[in-house]
Amino acid sequence: MALVWRQDISVGDDRIDSDHKTLISIINTAEDVINGSGSRRDLERVLARLDQYTKEHFAREEETQRRVGYPFHEAHKLEHKNLIRTLTEIRERVAQAKDAYSYEKVLQGLVDLLEDWLMNHVMLHDLRMRTFVGREKAAPASAAPPAPVRLARAGR
Ligand SMILES: [Fe+2]
Repeated sequence: MALVWRQDISVGDDRIDSDHKTLISIINTAEDVINGSGSRRDLERVLARLDQYTKEHFAREEETQRRVGYPFHEAHKLEHKNLIRTLTEIRERVAQAKDAYSYEKVLQGLVDLLEDWLMNHVMLHDLRMRTFVGREKAAPASAAPPAPVRLARAGR
């Protein structure tokens, strides 16, 4: 079931929100491929696209955070680095699966991993910058963490 972007995960910046919608769309495509509509080559292609788009997005997001004076931007940058590493590991696992059986094993849990990667790290951590994005001026010393949010799924 496809992930859906909702207004309550908006960070208040059109470009970043647009990036997040694109990332959700790429993850949904990956999910379709994993669930049977595509080949292993298709999966490698969509993961490569995810990798490339994520790096572009993280660069834009880091720039936005610097611009608005987001006080946790160094920690967030480190988080981005870890996320890229996780994505690289996922791609390596897919590439290194030697036969159909080991490829199937790699696919098990991959949707959950990708969704967790996107939702819990990319999106929910980003919500912390919402307070600062609207202001575009000197930020306060601390910001309250966002209330828990779940991404909606189509049909629920
Ligand atoms: Fe983001």
